[in-house]
Amino acid sequence: MDLSHSLTASAAPSWLDKVRLVLPTADEDRCDVNLIQDALLLPIPTTGSEELAEIQLDHFVLRYSEGCWQLFPPTDNDAFGRHALGIDFVQNARFNQPMTLREPLAKAAGLRANRRPMVIDLTAGLGRDAWALASTGCTVFAFERHPLIHFLLSDALMRARLGSKTHEIASRIHLYGSDARAAWPDTIKPDEHTVWLMDPMFPERQKSALVKKDMRIFHELVGVDADADALFAWARLQPANRYVVKRPPYAPALAGAKPSMSISSGRVRFDCYIKPAAYLSQ
Ligand SMILES: C[S@@+](CC[C@H](N)C(=O)[O-])C[C@H]1O[C@@H](n2cnc3c(N)ncnc32)[C@H](O)[C@@H]1O
Repeated sequence: MDLSHSLTASAAPSWLDKVRLVLPTADEDRCDVNLIQDALLLPIPTTGSEELAEIQLDHFVLRYSEGCWQLFPPTDNDAFGRHALGIDFVQNARFNQPMTLREPLAKAAGLRANRRPMVIDLTAGLGRDAWALASTGCTVFAFERHPLIHFLLSDALMRARLGSKTHEIASRIHLYGSDARAAWPDTIKPDEHTVWLMDPMFPERQKSALVKKDMRIFHELVGVDADADALFAWARLQPANRYVVKRPPYAPALAGAKPSMSISSGRVRFDCYIKPAAYLSQ
């Protein structure tokens, strides 16, 4: 079992005590405890259905429900609402249409009619940016070090690979359950055309009432990525065309580094760092 992700700050299992895994009973493929624990990359305490009613009062519960794995909030804490956190590229309408080249992320990544670079997403999270980029035709190598989030995302990608409309996009996304710095796969060979994407967790400044409740689950369990500057410093030593750093509008530039350009749009800002040599040769 690869525990390399536990080397880094936000994946230190401070959240482990708050979460319980409920093993499915009906679906044979999904109830092998060893397979599930291996996929989770970390042994998460399990709970049986007898004590579930009590456990779920004050724990987050990872449970297979309505055809996918979902993370349910504690039932006695209104702060997280009643909606579970899950990822569904097949049913969720927001993933039905490919991203257009006019969208800020596409512009930030430098996509053009004939330009679909390889993208390395160092902070995959719920996979929305990776999906958007893959929907335009980019191949995306995505790294997610938080075991729970990696588990939800790999489950979602597995289901999307089986969907007739989502198969092609899902097949362009290659997910790794680690910090790229800890275990770089030899098969990924970045070059001067590669786009690196980072979207580290930043402290939420919005009033909590404005943050969607399932996203509060995400913030509660993942926390803040305190080592984002170091990840950026590491990435900038790698071959690249550009780095795209996604930030809330109020956040300072990552590591205080002045971007080559920024693209702002509503609740996000994309800071772009373009490598001069590659930029001039385009
Ligand atoms: C704000 S979320 C990213 C959201 C993502 N852009 C999306 O579209 O859903 C940040 C994620 O990056 C992950 N992360 C942060 N630093 C990481 C690192 N060094 N290696 C791998 N994952 C990392 C966190 O665990 C978290 O899930």
